[in-house]
Amino acid sequence: MDNLTEKINKLKKEKNAIILAHCYQNAEIDEVADYVGDSLYLSQMAARTNADIILFAGVYFMAQTAKILCPDKKVLLPNIKAGCEMADMINLQQLREFKNKYPDIPAVCYINSTAEVKSECDICCTSSNAVQIVDSLKAEKVLFLPDKNLGRWVEKCLGNTKIITYDGYCPIHHNITVEDVLKIKKENPYIKLLAHPECKEEVSSLADFVGSTTGIMNFVKNNSDKKFIIATEKGVVDRLKRDYPQKEFIIIKENLICESMKLNTLQDIYTSLENETFEIKVDKEVSEKALKCIEKMLDVSKIGAAK
Ligand code: 13P
Ligand code: SF4
Repeated sequence: MDNLTEKINKLKKEKNAIILAHCYQNAEIDEVADYVGDSLYLSQMAARTNADIILFAGVYFMAQTAKILCPDKKVLLPNIKAGCEMADMINLQQLREFKNKYPDIPAVCYINSTAEVKSECDICCTSSNAVQIVDSLKAEKVLFLPDKNLGRWVEKCLGNTKIITYDGYCPIHHNITVEDVLKIKKENPYIKLLAHPECKEEVSSLADFVGSTTGIMNFVKNNSDKKFIIATEKGVVDRLKRDYPQKEFIIIKENLICESMKLNTLQDIYTSLENETFEIKVDKEVSEKALKCIEKMLDVSKIGAAK
């Protein structure tokens, strides 16, 4: 057998392993993935699985979150260099300084953060539930980190909560400007713009829909329009083109590529499953504290979903 896909699927069965793949992953990885989705969906799937091994085709903080949710399982990241630049913009020391500057205000961390950072925040959120999570706190003021753009967007959506943001951002989404939006809208009048909330707030404000990677995919699924402008990482646009060949998708600008996400290859996945590398480990005390932060989010999301 020399087909990598077949070999991976065989190893998965032998080792009772599952593969979780983020929407930004390349098409070849879908063939071996058990679940493909945004960070909220994938963390929910990690929390639910009976598998012995979880291989995360995504970036480090995603695999780390899976490990925190499933401390007794083996969690693998196929390429150990796959990090998230935004998550690395705040460390524990910086978080403590931020919190000390604004005492007695609840701290909400985006899931794109390290385990240490999560361990000292009140609740976690993802791009698909950030508004719901902040709203659930019923607080006048909230600290939000590391993504200032998502924080500003949540503040705008809620209207009645002051959000104090940390100065972090995703370099890929932050790179999209109002000028980019105006130019593409002029070239494509009446075409809906769908944006990820990691874009600058002034960009999100010009969009017809703002949502997570899965949120954008679902919007297209449920909308009869034949053409869309997409403001997020190229992987989502590639996925949309594959799933809806009868529709047209225009990426708002070139080079919206998260190089880290693209590091994972089928060969990496095979090697990772075979050798059980790179195993993600989290300090027990940090993990237990971070788990509380993540579980609070999952509880609030569950209540919201049941409504
Ligand atoms: P999603 O929650 O939409 O999957 O976003 C995660 C991410 O890192 C996007 O850049
Ligand atoms: Fe991090 Fe941005 Fe890459 Fe998402 S796209 S993983 S936020 S660097």
